[in-house]
Amino acid sequence: MNVPYHIAIIMDGNGRWARARNLPRNAGHREGIKRLKEIIKAAQKAGVKIVTVFAFSTENWNRPKKELSFLFSYLEKFIDSYKRELIEKGIRFKAIGRRDRIGEKIVRKIEAVEKITRDNNKLIFNIALDYGGRWDILGAVRGIIKDYSCKHFKASDIDEKFFKNYLSLGEFPEPDLLIRTSGESRISNFLIWDLAYSEFYFTSLFWPDFDSKQFQKAIKVYSERERRFGRIDE
Ligand code: IPE
Ligand code: IPE
Ligand code: MG
Repeated sequence: MNVPYHIAIIMDGNGRWARARNLPRNAGHREGIKRLKEIIKAAQKAGVKIVTVFAFSTENWNRPKKELSFLFSYLEKFIDSYKRELIEKGIRFKAIGRRDRIGEKIVRKIEAVEKITRDNNKLIFNIALDYGGRWDILGAVRGIIKDYSCKHFKASDIDEKFFKNYLSLGEFPEPDLLIRTSGESRISNFLIWDLAYSEFYFTSLFWPDFDSKQFQKAIKVYSERERRFGRIDE
């Protein structure tokens, strides 16, 4: 089977999962975080090499303060409780997104886990936190302008390969497959550059209901897709 090398996931629908059970939204976030470990495990088992998940967008700051504080406390607990497993399983952990608004304590934890798992290569697990695709592209533009004063390149040197190197996921091949749960069919400012040629898989299941079986199903659907990249079949 043709297994995707890199899978991106928009983990959506925690709130509606909770509402359907008459639970508060934070119960959905708690379940959602739990599911993430199962999916990473399933990815490793399936032979996927990179998983990039959307955990918090630059737009998610528009939510009530109480929800934000629950979300970040779950994320912090997630990092704490996952550290040992990441080390044991040879998983490299990397966070992408802004680090100046999410709080010093969580940033310190993220950086510690990034450092300790830096040389792992069994699977790369990227978590997008305070991430926005437009922010990422603007960051690349700023990086290029900054480098322009000290590095010797011309405007005509800035091709797609050159530009990509300045993006958050510049060191990795682009996602082969994007999964979004909860029935929404949009990117919501996730990896807008990187998803240019990804296959999209949408499911109406809420993220806390998306288990390893469902994940395997998404991989199977992907494996049956034909990717042409603008070419024609001969
Ligand atoms: C996804 O679930 C998690 C985050 C965006 C942080 P939601 O919280 O968006 O759940 P719904 O979409 O409101 O059901
Ligand atoms: C996208 O979900 C962001 C994450 C899953 C972290 P949202 O729930 O924020 O997206 P919209 O608002 O429905 O587009
Ligand atoms: Mg949502």
